[in-house]
Amino acid sequence: MALIDPARVHSALADAGFSFHIESLETCDSTNARLLLRAADAPSALVLVADRQTAGRGRRERSWESTPEGSLTFSLLWHLPPEKIGGLSLAIGLALLRALNKFGARHLALKWPNDLLFTPPEAEPGKLAGILVELATSGKKMTVVIGIGLNLHRPTGMAAAGLTDCLPAMPSREDLLAEILLQTGRVLAVVEDYGFAALRHEWQTHHAYQNCAVSLQDAGCIEVEGVCRGVDADGALLLEIPGKAGLTRFFAGDLSLRPKLEENIR
Ligand code: BTN
Repeated sequence: MALIDPARVHSALADAGFSFHIESLETCDSTNARLLLRAADAPSALVLVADRQTAGRGRRERSWESTPEGSLTFSLLWHLPPEKIGGLSLAIGLALLRALNKFGARHLALKWPNDLLFTPPEAEPGKLAGILVELATSGKKMTVVIGIGLNLHRPTGMAAAGLTDCLPAMPSREDLLAEILLQTGRVLAVVEDYGFAALRHEWQTHHAYQNCAVSLQDAGCIEVEGVCRGVDADGALLLEIPGKAGLTRFFAGDLSLRPKLEENIR
């Protein structure tokens, strides 16, 4: 398979009003790791796309496999005021969902904090894409590296989905990348001006577990159960916990649906 061609991505973005600098590699350890090393010097809108990562990383020190046929993996570097960071990975999830909807995708949903799911009515949901936002600071300047791993085909042996499951026809990887960058640029412009608060309502309309009974497992292995009432303006998860007044905010953790309860809540 040929390398992703930056010139073709640029021509797909010709009238978009955004200018990205795109570099394409056959192999690297991790596109996030590479861009983090350049955070102090690189301008906003630098994109690194790699056909294959040897040490691709996911949230919570998980790994992320990538092959040219199997996935689209890239990172975008952006300078952002520190006060606008809250909810960023949620905003990027929305950009990804908007982009795939442009190609005719259906049954997509967002899972807090950073997953895009394919949720067909008659089958088990599967993870279609993951987002890893990493931060670098130098002085007062904050740089974010936004890493996206999108499955083109369903990975074998995993409860995951591929783009071929949810699109009527597969676009080229260049057209796909161009649309995702376009939507990401738009979302980042909103975040820069107003913060995630301005996207919160739209995010919740696509939220896979809105008003469902869920359990949240955090890094310290504490499991909390409650009803998911969405997210706040900073992107924190809001849970209604039995016996506790009001809503409790969570900033990290792995969310899962509590089986069989979801239809009872809403
Ligand atoms: C997750 O689901 O935990 C997030 C996965 C993010 C993977 C992408 S692939 C491109 C970028 N480079 C990395 O090393 N990770 C992100």
